[in-house]
Amino acid sequence: MSQGREIFIAGTSDDVAREAAARFVALASEAIGLRGRFSVLLSGGSTPRKLYSLLAQPPFVNAVQWEKIFLFFADERFVPHNDIESTYLLVRETLLDVAPIPLKNCFPMPTEGMTLEGAAASYQGAIETFFGATDDWAFDLAFLGMGPDGHTASLFPGRPDFSTSVGIVRDSPKPPPERLTLSLKAINRSRAVIFLVTGADKADRVREVLGDDGSDCGLPAARVEASGSATVWLLDLQSATGLDARLR
Ligand code: 6PG
Repeated sequence: MSQGREIFIAGTSDDVAREAAARFVALASEAIGLRGRFSVLLSGGSTPRKLYSLLAQPPFVNAVQWEKIFLFFADERFVPHNDIESTYLLVRETLLDVAPIPLKNCFPMPTEGMTLEGAAASYQGAIETFFGATDDWAFDLAFLGMGPDGHTASLFPGRPDFSTSVGIVRDSPKPPPERLTLSLKAINRSRAVIFLVTGADKADRVREVLGDDGSDCGLPAARVEASGSATVWLLDLQSATGLDARLR
């Protein structure tokens, strides 16, 4: 059942990153208290870069038990892990190389030495192994971005959802064209979801997705719903300009 949405408008993209980092720390502590570990889906793009860097610095880096935190990817560009476009490279440079997180706790999507099909099957297997023999697995948190066209992860407008948890994209409108992505169904298993959206080029889509006219715009980002709490939208002032004053 839908838990609704929470819209939080911070001033700048730095403020968005700080708010996201604080929420990461709080959710990690809660999940570790309840279940002994915290599993997170990460996204690529420019907006999360600041968040990952912040998490690797005091006070945030000292506020979490990194050995109990497990990092997965909501999607990945199908390029080598040392390619400038790689989301894994972004996470490695900003977070893994800096914070005391055991490398075995990070599960990059494979992008080398196999086909897209092989990589999708391999990642699906990694998720199933991590959660064990259960049908009701769920990541604790998904950090997502939204593109100016309303895509999220590598789920693009006008395309059906995937039937498997990990889907293949060969013609992404956002380069690079080949990608792997978790399906909407898999993302929507996440107990908590936090969107990070900044910049004036997103304002029209933010209005469409979060506006209060009650209509369902059908964009992929609009169809994301956390399973255990309200879906959180962290916006900077620029991306929120189109929202009704009551929502701001
Ligand atoms: C990627 C992500 C994509 C991203 C959004 C927002 O391209 O790696 O899959 O969904 O999160 O496009 O990206 P920005 O934060 O760069 O605007």
